Amino acid sequence: MNLAPARAGNELIQPDATPKPGTAEPRRAHCQDPPSGESGNAAGSRPVMQLEHKPSKVLIVGCSGSGKTQYWTRYLLGSRARLKFVFDHEGEFAGRLKFRPATTLEQLATAAGRGWCVFDPARLYPGATPEAFAFFLDFAFTLSTQTGGRKLFACDELQAVTDTHTVSPELACVLETGRRYGLDFAAIAQQPNLVHNRVRNQATEVVTFQQMDPRAVDWCAAVGFDPAAVRGLAPGQYLARNLKTGGPAAGRVF
Ligand SMILES: Nc1ncnc2c1ncn2[C@@H]1O[C@H](COP(=O)(O)OP(=O)(O)O)[C@@H](O)[C@H]1O
Ligand SMILES: [Mg+2]
Repeated sequence: MNLAPARAGNELIQPDATPKPGTAEPRRAHCQDPPSGESGNAAGSRPVMQLEHKPSKVLIVGCSGSGKTQYWTRYLLGSRARLKFVFDHEGEFAGRLKFRPATTLEQLATAAGRGWCVFDPARLYPGATPEAFAFFLDFAFTLSTQTGGRKLFACDELQAVTDTHTVSPELACVLETGRRYGLDFAAIAQQPNLVHNRVRNQATEVVTFQQMDPRAVDWCAAVGFDPAAVRGLAPGQYLARNLKTGGPAAGRVF
């Protein structure tokens, strides 16, 4: 895939497809296939297996103020995924795009039906962001099992809602099982060493902005970046690598 962030489009207004998710009520599925008899979805009551799907899991890293959110936002806007799940725990994505996020279950279901499911958890989960994250991962995974085509789960500042010691079953479902249902992943972390190695190990593409912390630079070097080049990046400048093909890319967002 093209690692350069796509130009900002108008998908927020005109999503490239209108999926018809089966249910407004999220379940705590933990990777279980939907039970038979569950009400309508793109493939009846059976999960939509997509074993041919080539997973894309993008990890964007870099120090504060370097341009990560700018890149990620453009990436999401340019993505052709038919259903985009954005965990907007800081309200920054919706704020920057002047986009009204979903804050209730009803709004989530409506948003999912339009292709953009931007969830601000402050109303449903005040003071409980990790629980909100688990809920939304489960919601996204469950809908993805019922919806054909490519889907994308996205989160800014992943290190703020996860830790380096454990990976929740909900995150494991999205990261490790989501591929079977065409669910991709795009997340930001300030430093790669601030997220669990199971998250890092799932990355198919890495985009790095400037990093100075030795552990962060070491990991970038381990996945093929020139450490001096990573340290020397200017604000807005990035390097990218496809870890499957080794394909490098470079550019700037400002
Ligand atoms: N074209 C630009 N020129 C200069 N600064 C910019 C430009 N676009 C964005 N910025 C600023 O750069 C800062 C960092 O961008 P951001 O993507 O939020 O970084 P990060 O997510 O890495 O902290 C933001 O405060 C933003 O206002
Ligand atoms: Mg940011």
